[in-house]
Amino acid sequence: MKEYNIAKEDEIGVGERIVTEIEGREIAVFNVDGEYVAYLNWCFHQAGPCCEGKVTGTTEATWDSENLTQTLTYTREDEILNCPWHGWEYDIQTGECISRSGVSLPSYPVRIEEGNIILSL
Ligand code: FES
Repeated sequence: MKEYNIAKEDEIGVGERIVTEIEGREIAVFNVDGEYVAYLNWCFHQAGPCCEGKVTGTTEATWDSENLTQTLTYTREDEILNCPWHGWEYDIQTGECISRSGVSLPSYPVRIEEGNIILSL
């Protein structure tokens, strides 16, 4: 396993990301509330650049079977990564696709050493 110095900690602020290429792979490193996560910039749907999409919330539906009504609620603000091609949604903290069970973005370990963001590949 090789390690790569991605950036200084202060170069990726909370809510920001960088996309870089390592060994021919596009990889995005996100600062999620002070924790760094890294994913392959490759959407499971049709290989779109999912890590370049907006980070938003999502809409959850609840069904009331007694009254036969559905309620839509916008929730999880700043927790959902949206692929810019067709809108597949991924949990930014885990990489799990929230609209397709069993699908997750490939992830890479990230650690901080002396103010540097180090990614293992
Ligand atoms: S390629 Fe990502 S949603 Fe289609």
